[in-house]
Amino acid sequence: MKKRKMKKGPKVILILLICIIIGVGIIYVLPKENENKKELTKEEKLIEDMKKISYYRKENKERYITYQKENNSLSIEDVITHVNIGIDQPYYTNTKPSENLNTNLILVNKYNYVTQDYIPENLEPIDTAYARSGMQLVSEAKNAFEELSQNAKEDDMTILAMSSYRSYDYQVNLYNNYVETDGKQAADTYSARAGYSEHQTGLAVDVYNGVIPYTSFEETEEFTWMQQNAYKYGFILRFPEDKTNITGYQYESWHYRYVGKEIAEEIYKNNLTLEEYLAKK
Ligand code: DAL
Ligand code: ZN
Repeated sequence: MKKRKMKKGPKVILILLICIIIGVGIIYVLPKENENKKELTKEEKLIEDMKKISYYRKENKERYITYQKENNSLSIEDVITHVNIGIDQPYYTNTKPSENLNTNLILVNKYNYVTQDYIPENLEPIDTAYARSGMQLVSEAKNAFEELSQNAKEDDMTILAMSSYRSYDYQVNLYNNYVETDGKQAADTYSARAGYSEHQTGLAVDVYNGVIPYTSFEETEEFTWMQQNAYKYGFILRFPEDKTNITGYQYESWHYRYVGKEIAEEIYKNNLTLEEYLAKK
């Protein structure tokens, strides 16, 4: 059968019509769709990007948005980390009981506290070859500290514990004395309120070299040794000079915290604080 051919004129008109319809679509419909998308994503884009980060916590969404607006030079990783830590809110607000009691990962700081009756399990006295008398740490931390101090001795270094486990009541007196001397505002920069000191965990130790006051520990060769070796025994420098905004405390070259070897190495090699390490989990 012979096919009926369309005449040239109507064919051209049909093609033109199709082109016009497509053109109108491109000019009007597609950009509008994109515009709608933009309107939607403007508010949501930030959150969409944040959700891709493994430590994003959906309950903190509104706080991330607010904190990001106030600190728009920070990376989104830092925004999430800071909010997870709690530093978008003033110290000693939004406080909660510490989790992970009696483990190496317990976090006690200006947002996480232990109660008056919290006494860590397995407290043991540190051998007086390595400490002032009466010093105690949790067994695992005590063994690690004694090994550290002994190995330091073999390198001609003297590293002694001068303050370690402190009870809640002891911290009450200590903090109150500082407040009396320096006022509350200053005391809060270097001393924890009772319940908020990680000395109460039995995992923190202040050291000195037996000669120079502990507050000048930074100037000693023992400090250099600690900087290079503490993590190998499971200890981290807890209040570093460049992280005072994160820890909420001024630099303390003498205060070390036991977290165990593996975590200490990760924290040390990535230049983290315990707060940042936990906030990124
Ligand atoms: N000096 C530290 C912050 C404490 O009091 O626990
Ligand atoms: Zn200390």
